[in-house]
Amino acid sequence: MRMYDIIEKKKNKLSLTKEEIAFFVKGYVSNEIPDYQISSLLMAIVLNGMDDIEVTNLTLAMANSGDKLKLDFNAVDKHSTGGVGDKTTLIITPIVACLDCKVAKMSGKGLGYTGGTIDKLESIPNFKVQLSDEEFINQINDINVSIISQTKNIAPADKKIYALRDVTATVESIPLIASSIMSKKIASGAKNLVLDIKVGSGAFMKNINDATKLGQTMVNIGKNASINTVAILTNMNEPLGNSIGNNLEVLEAIKVLKGNGPKDITDISIELASYMVSITNKITYEEAKTKVMEVLNNGQALNRFYELIKYQGGDISKLIHNSKYEYKVYAKECGYITKMDTAKIGKISSMLGAGRIKKDDLIDYNAGIVLNKKINDYINKNDLLATLYTNKELNLSNEYLSSLEISDKPIENKLILGVIK
Ligand code: URA
Repeated sequence: MRMYDIIEKKKNKLSLTKEEIAFFVKGYVSNEIPDYQISSLLMAIVLNGMDDIEVTNLTLAMANSGDKLKLDFNAVDKHSTGGVGDKTTLIITPIVACLDCKVAKMSGKGLGYTGGTIDKLESIPNFKVQLSDEEFINQINDINVSIISQTKNIAPADKKIYALRDVTATVESIPLIASSIMSKKIASGAKNLVLDIKVGSGAFMKNINDATKLGQTMVNIGKNASINTVAILTNMNEPLGNSIGNNLEVLEAIKVLKGNGPKDITDISIELASYMVSITNKITYEEAKTKVMEVLNNGQALNRFYELIKYQGGDISKLIHNSKYEYKVYAKECGYITKMDTAKIGKISSMLGAGRIKKDDLIDYNAGIVLNKKINDYINKNDLLATLYTNKELNLSNEYLSSLEISDKPIENKLILGVIK
């Protein structure tokens, strides 16, 4: 088999066989096939696509390229395609853990304008994100949930291919995004998976058609790999909740678990948790939702979150938000907020210190943004729109203001845009 012929085949819009896909994935990981040939193939895939069988074969070849976690229980996982202010993992994993669902979660650090669950958890004093395999499994057996940083060699083929995509303008491709995410999920051992596909100004997928295609592709891969998969399409035209930034988001997650969090993040958490419980315990969505509401309302989910923190060494009583500077952003005009450039708001939060531009950047757990007004809120001149928290002398108020659009009429703003089963 020759790499040249595989590139030529995809250039001519033909489907690649399982053997051809396995050949280039294996050859790339073992450094036998050079970057330039893989780049050329990736570009051909971006331009000419892949059918469902090819995408599944690519996903499985990448999933099999490194360590695979073997879990001897019916684990459930959730994956978000990335957003701003998205702290749902902190809320829903303790909820579902109260309802006989086991969550063995390996999460990542944030990069670019989206935050990472691991950074949020590390903002809790003494929280350990690295556990031995034995500690990880023991904790799940005890309290049904553990969240750790991914240290295993999960899907190294994806890691290498993703780094190449990043510098060859080949990230934006539905087959490549779907196979990249699903390869890691398959190698992580979950048997049930809820995907939160974000759509809008703060997401990879800017429109509902692309998001639907991505969701459908990932659900098909899940089915072909015997993983119960559901994809929920959700709005990312504004940040989720009112807080962005690491310890601010932990504090907001606690508010949601206490029943007094912002409505959007509460509703989306209930939706995702209900699907997780429904597909794992094989009950209807409505039955699952009733149970989810019960453990939220009776404080069990909040207690489970505190147990999770304690189990991993964290001390929530020591989590106090403070920063040297607070820049208040006031409205200069009146009207309804009808647009928020969510990616830009995420970048502002990153620049304040909450995120990384490069992989090894240090982050400031206290930096971030608290939003007072969001889409469809009516604002008067001089109303407080947001507070920017930072330890840098860096006033980004004007940048924040320029990320908003004000109009005289509210817009349609749905939170849940679709479900793909
Ligand atoms: N996240 C991933 O893990 N892979 C992609 O290709 C895009 C987003």
